[in-house]
Amino acid sequence: MTPKPATVIPRVRSRPVPARWQGEVEHVLFSDRQIARRVRELATEIEAEFQDRELVIVSLLNGTVMFLADLIRHLSLPLRLDFMGVSSYGAGTESGELVYTKELRLDVRGRDVLLVDDILDTGRTLHKVLAKLRALKPRRIKTCVLLDKVARRVEKVQADFVGFPIPDHFVVGYGLDYAERYRNLPFVGVLHPRMYQTGADAAVIAGRPAKKPGTRKSA
Ligand code: XMP
Repeated sequence: MTPKPATVIPRVRSRPVPARWQGEVEHVLFSDRQIARRVRELATEIEAEFQDRELVIVSLLNGTVMFLADLIRHLSLPLRLDFMGVSSYGAGTESGELVYTKELRLDVRGRDVLLVDDILDTGRTLHKVLAKLRALKPRRIKTCVLLDKVARRVEKVQADFVGFPIPDHFVVGYGLDYAERYRNLPFVGVLHPRMYQTGADAAVIAGRPAKKPGTRKSA
């Protein structure tokens, strides 16, 4: 049985932001140790669900890079790995128009599929990707996200496996970016609002307003 994702956002004692990132990251939401512990737990939950059946993991580029690498090294069931590249474009952040920059190569028909993403926000990405995958007739699809911004949901979509539910902050690190930066941070942190309120940095993303980034997937 799939464990229900937690909906209560736990209060986490904030760790100090490393000196190098203090001007850009407001606070640390999850430290590398907290992430490592939760990723191990997620792997155990996933193994219990799939019971040694061969899995096809479909991971969305680019934000899942660190999460996926850590997750799969804790999975001892047989698996094959593929990636889909998804970008959202349009005016501002809410257009919901998805462009596939890399298509799936593996055949998922009749297979058990685990779709992995970094963060579930409005749910538009997962909703559309799930529809695309379902059309390929897999045996079943489960979804796994590191972060779940529950309060921003627009589409009726839930992940089967959730690392951490989070409040409505724009987060970076551990694979997540702002204008392709910060993916290399080993922790998940809240981006300082000054990073997207100043015209200079906001202009890095063409066509985006100088306001809090909402949903943008870049692949
Ligand atoms: P949706 O709204 O479609 O969003 O559920 C999914 C994608 O949007 C990106 N996203 C973020 N990226 N910090 C980020 O670095 C965030 O707080 C954030 N919220 C959404 C991300 O690519 C995700 O897969």
